[in-house]
Amino acid sequence: MTGHPLDVLPPEVPVYSLPDQVVFPHRSFPLFVGKEHMGMVEEALRSERLLVILAILAVDPITGREQFARVGTICRINQVLRFPEGGCKIMLEGLSRVRLISTRQITPFVMASVSLIAERENRSSVAQALMQSIVALLRVAQSLGQEFPEDVNHVIGRIDDPGKLADTLAVYLNLEVKDQQRLLETLDPLERLKDVYLFLTAEIQKLQSKKAPGGERSRQTVRSQKENLLREQLKHIQNQLGEEDPQQSELRQFRSVVRGGKMPEVVRSVAEKELARLERINPSSPEYTVTRTYVEYLCNTPWLRGTTDVLDIQRAQQILDEDHYDLVEIKERILEFLAVHTLKASLKGPILCFVGPPGVGKTSLGRSIARSLGRKFIRISLGGMKDEAEIRGHRRTYIGAMPGRIIQEICRAGSNNPVFMLDEVDKIGQDFRGDPAAALLEVLDPEQNDTFTDHYLDVPFDLSHVMFITTANVMDTVPPPLRDRMEVLRLPGYSDEEKLQIVLKYLVPKQIVENGLERHPLRFEEDAVLKIIKNYTREAGVRNIDRQIASVCRKVAKKVAQGGTAPVVITSDQVEKMLGPRKFFSDVAAEEDRIGVVTGLAWTESGGDIIFVEVSAMAGRKDLTLTGSLGGVMQESAKTALSYVRAHHVEFGVNAGMFENTDIHIHVPSGAIPKDGPSAGVTIATALISLLTGRAARRNVAMTGELTLSGRILPIGGVKEKVLAARRAGVTTVLLPERNREHIKELDEHIRNKMTIILVDSLSEVIAHTLLPETEDEPRLYEKHQRLVIDPPSGS
Ligand SMILES: Nc1ncnc2c1ncn2[C@@H]1O[C@H](COP(=O)(O)OP(=O)(O)OP(=O)(O)O)[C@@H](O)[C@H]1O
Ligand SMILES: [Mg+2]
Repeated sequence: MTGHPLDVLPPEVPVYSLPDQVVFPHRSFPLFVGKEHMGMVEEALRSERLLVILAILAVDPITGREQFARVGTICRINQVLRFPEGGCKIMLEGLSRVRLISTRQITPFVMASVSLIAERENRSSVAQALMQSIVALLRVAQSLGQEFPEDVNHVIGRIDDPGKLADTLAVYLNLEVKDQQRLLETLDPLERLKDVYLFLTAEIQKLQSKKAPGGERSRQTVRSQKENLLREQLKHIQNQLGEEDPQQSELRQFRSVVRGGKMPEVVRSVAEKELARLERINPSSPEYTVTRTYVEYLCNTPWLRGTTDVLDIQRAQQILDEDHYDLVEIKERILEFLAVHTLKASLKGPILCFVGPPGVGKTSLGRSIARSLGRKFIRISLGGMKDEAEIRGHRRTYIGAMPGRIIQEICRAGSNNPVFMLDEVDKIGQDFRGDPAAALLEVLDPEQNDTFTDHYLDVPFDLSHVMFITTANVMDTVPPPLRDRMEVLRLPGYSDEEKLQIVLKYLVPKQIVENGLERHPLRFEEDAVLKIIKNYTREAGVRNIDRQIASVCRKVAKKVAQGGTAPVVITSDQVEKMLGPRKFFSDVAAEEDRIGVVTGLAWTESGGDIIFVEVSAMAGRKDLTLTGSLGGVMQESAKTALSYVRAHHVEFGVNAGMFENTDIHIHVPSGAIPKDGPSAGVTIATALISLLTGRAARRNVAMTGELTLSGRILPIGGVKEKVLAARRAGVTTVLLPERNREHIKELDEHIRNKMTIILVDSLSEVIAHTLLPETEDEPRLYEKHQRLVIDPPSGS
């Protein structure tokens, strides 16, 4: 949560005053805001999301006027959770101390201009020693029954700045507002720390006197005793300064973790051994650092620590619906998965794999699942990962060895049962350094991942509580053994109508919040959204549409901020004004029907796409040239198509002479993009027949299907992706293999109603639907292309 720089301080910031509490920097904390103060929150959200929090030190009993503190804390609002009945909960992060310069009442709240108070540093050894004693005192207080939230020890052990430590602790001491305010106004970190020390010892004495009989002594004596104690201890610390050894305190911390029962027995015994070694070796030797890092990892790994699952199917359903439109089957499958988990209390089962083009919501579904289960979410990308060690870590014998990504991320999340998303399993690589896929196999196998051994940690970690989800754009490149372990859920992409709903119901509301337009009644007309979808994006998912909507919202936000008249309704005309000239034109509609060029459909990583198969012929010796980065399978299907057309030339009205003394060239633009697969067979054959008969092919008819040597048309994959791509490109008729009949059901109503989908069983049906009839006035092929020196086909 920390680390947000405060780069610009606006001239005025809204003020929130708290009657009984002082807020310190470096902390995140929630604040409940009543309806009556919402104006102030809205005002903050409209600019830099900043608020100044000031304590109310006193209230005049007669006039009721409040006396504000002059020093407060400027905070950033990181999150807002609005309540339906008005009011909200905000998550604030304290950024810095500020001094009040002036205030201005703008009913119902106050704006203030403030100046930042820079934090002073003090890294002196006195400060270090004092910090250590405070941490020790904290333990004493705890042992006497003082309660601190669980994570305090953890946080405090990591703070190395005296001022910050004082601020963090100040919150947990039972101080009166006056005393808290004094701490806030004490700018010298060492002084502040000393005060905290005093308060803490007082606290301890109170606790002790509560336990001891004859308790209550006068405040006066307690105070002087306290100060004596402090003086003595400080003296002691300073005496010791020469020998004070940070290593010792670190070792003490390690020891307390190792003995604290937070790790399995096997790990504990290894850790004990390493710790004993660490105590023996010289801290300045390089070996010390290596062993220290190792012990630190052993201590920080959440061996037994996890989050508690929220197993409530109804709530899960609600969260999934809140985050994603439609995707009914996928959500259903996820809920089944959770239901089984509820009943069986174990998450063993197939690993889910979301497959689909970019921007269809694979990653965000993973996030939703984590949210609905109440688990932490982790995501790593396997794209381009070539080294097994990236998954499983390097052995400790290597210099600079580290655990692999799996363990690293789990440590970072601090939970042994997160939802762990492995993105891009299809892009995983492999080279001489070993095969990461093999390591992944072990990670993903429920039968053996309870003893997953990272090379670095070298002790087994139980991954069986982790819920792994993988994602891929295509399945073909996923290594088969990995594929076997996964249950594939396909997200094929959205039609324009589905996109429209996603935009109106999800993306627009999200962008309105992100651009601070909650108070501006902005609305998008359906036509405007459709125009954005059609003219400004071309994709299977919704990522670019999201960007375009964001861009419109930003433009509106700018106008609102400038105080000008900002549009309230985005109409289709406005889209052009805001986003500039259209970026995409329908590929097909703009083209004329031509001879030897046929529209095909391909299944690519980014969903579906249309391709054009171009064929040309020239004088030569029956050679076949194939260009356009065609893969082996595609080259073979081109040869098959040519053989089939030659063998059945009579049926298609092609003169046998056409094949003599001719070279044929088949090209599929765009040349630099590799293409493969058998599904262009029918398209290539159709393009050949178009060329050889001189009949032009309808551009707005697109086809896909594998052609066998005996003329059968075999089914193909990715029907929905391909049909959606055809629609995007302006194709009106799609020819699909008869054997894909089942898959047509996947298409939604809109698509089936707006496009003609024809199932075909033979090439002659394809020809009938695609090629224009021969016309008398249409110049024949050889006349149009002078360089073609072949005999005119018979019958012309
Ligand atoms: N059905 C949907 N309903 C609502 N929002 C959606 C839907 N599908 C996608 N989105 C939104 O689209 C954006 C992109 O989604 P996300 O990043 O999950 O894509 P992805 O499938 O993981 O893509 P990639 O393959 O590039 O990683 C997110 O903001 C997501 O919320
Ligand atoms: Mg993603």
